[in-house]
Amino acid sequence: MAGSTCLRGTQSILFVCLGNICRSPMAEGIFRSMAQSKGLGELRIDSAGTGRWHEGDPPDSRSIAVAAEYGVDITGQRARTIRPGDFERFELIVAMDRSNVSNLVAAASPSSHHRIHHFMTLARNRPVDVPDPYLGGSDGFESVYRMLQEGCEALLARMR
Ligand code: 4NP
Repeated sequence: MAGSTCLRGTQSILFVCLGNICRSPMAEGIFRSMAQSKGLGELRIDSAGTGRWHEGDPPDSRSIAVAAEYGVDITGQRARTIRPGDFERFELIVAMDRSNVSNLVAAASPSSHHRIHHFMTLARNRPVDVPDPYLGGSDGFESVYRMLQEGCEALLARMR
């Protein structure tokens, strides 16, 4: 899980949070938009939640609003729960916080554990969680968005 992991040539990335309606959908949208603007449209990019409460739901309206402010449209994304096949389909599985990491490690077979990473540790070598903004106000969504932008920029730079 160290920030020194070599990411060059990675073709697929899955962002994971708890509900897949706040943090990971923003990360997915930001990363896709950055990848497209750099001509990397062929990357497989997706997001999922470890919990199943919001299966099929669009992102939280506060996530949609803050992403739109930054010119990123995430309205078409739908929440889904992590599936066993994800641990094979995605080379990088990036969790927003430590509890997401623990849930993923518990769900994956040991042969896939090396794919599971803590987002800010991997991206910026900063072992800080992306806080869950769900129960807070819209200020929380703005600061989470900026943190995700910073992390996505760094990850993408290392994948090229
Ligand atoms: P997320 O936020 O993990 O960033 O999508 C949450 C959304 C919903 C719930 C928890 C966290 N929930 O308990 O319904």
